[in-house]
Amino acid sequence: MFLVGAVASAIGIAIGLAIDWFPVEATEQASEVDFLYDVTLVIAVPIFVLVMTVAIYSVLRFRVSDDDESDGAPIHGNSRLEVIWVAVPTIIVVALAAYAWIGLLALEEEGQNPLRVKVIGQQFAWKYEYPAEAGMPAKQTTDLVLPVNRPVQFELNTEDVIHSFWVPAFRLKQDIVPGITTAMRLTPNRLGAFPVVCAELCGIGHSTMRQTVRVVDATRYTSWRGEPPSPALSAGAPGTDSADGKRLFEGTGCAGCHSLSAAGEAAATGPPLGGLDAIAAARAPGVSVEQYIRESIVDPTKVVAPGYSPEGMPQNYREQLSPRELEALVSYLSAVSKESGGKPQ
Ligand code: CUA
Repeated sequence: MFLVGAVASAIGIAIGLAIDWFPVEATEQASEVDFLYDVTLVIAVPIFVLVMTVAIYSVLRFRVSDDDESDGAPIHGNSRLEVIWVAVPTIIVVALAAYAWIGLLALEEEGQNPLRVKVIGQQFAWKYEYPAEAGMPAKQTTDLVLPVNRPVQFELNTEDVIHSFWVPAFRLKQDIVPGITTAMRLTPNRLGAFPVVCAELCGIGHSTMRQTVRVVDATRYTSWRGEPPSPALSAGAPGTDSADGKRLFEGTGCAGCHSLSAAGEAAATGPPLGGLDAIAAARAPGVSVEQYIRESIVDPTKVVAPGYSPEGMPQNYREQLSPRELEALVSYLSAVSKESGGKPQ
């Protein structure tokens, strides 16, 4: 039995360690998290194998035979066995807890000169605020851009319900809870773009609450900080052309829920936004398509597309968008809607 268990454990551990469970490691902290995972795996696999081996062996070896109707030998406790099966798991659990605690303290250590970034979760998009520093003005944006090899301290808040900020490649995840500020520290050490995911069921658009973080070198970071803030969040951003409207569409979270082939978006939480002139004519006769779009953004409960819930749409775009941004978005959506020839997408 122990030979079978030992062989099965060795195979199980080998397979467990050989499988590539996770995406690339993109922070200094990631390797510690992955090593902790491997340690847990090396301990857990033999325990699983031991329990299953004893259970399967006992079922086969001590099965009742057809002609034997006795209850089996009376067994009354075995102090030595009981002490062992309490002591061994206790030692394993305490040792793992101590190791994980030490690891957690190391993960949460404040780095040198950290970049402080505020993360704001809302149904169903992420926003970020960078403080003014080193001659660079404060910046509000929907893009998360981090300089490589510099410690980052995130301060996390929500505008509505509980969300959870998760970058799998960073190996760290933190809940965002209404009324308190939570924190997360890490040091990105790999250039590239990595998914940002909401990991807390937060409403109808939860699965679309995904954006991207870009880790760039210091020069690119500085030049990005110098660019004007994302138009979605700066009051009175200039221009009302359709390029601005497109950036707003992608930057304010519209694209997280609505499909629009002109923008290459295919989300399906909210109604598709193709062929709006025909839709406006059918649902709100006598109202121009521009007016229909405008009202649908600032007052989503007024006319609700059949089969969709008005609760899925944020109710606060009137406050979030400046009048010019609202008009840019309206003119963009009405323009691309006409280009698409009135065919719903
Ligand atoms: Cu936010 Cu799920």
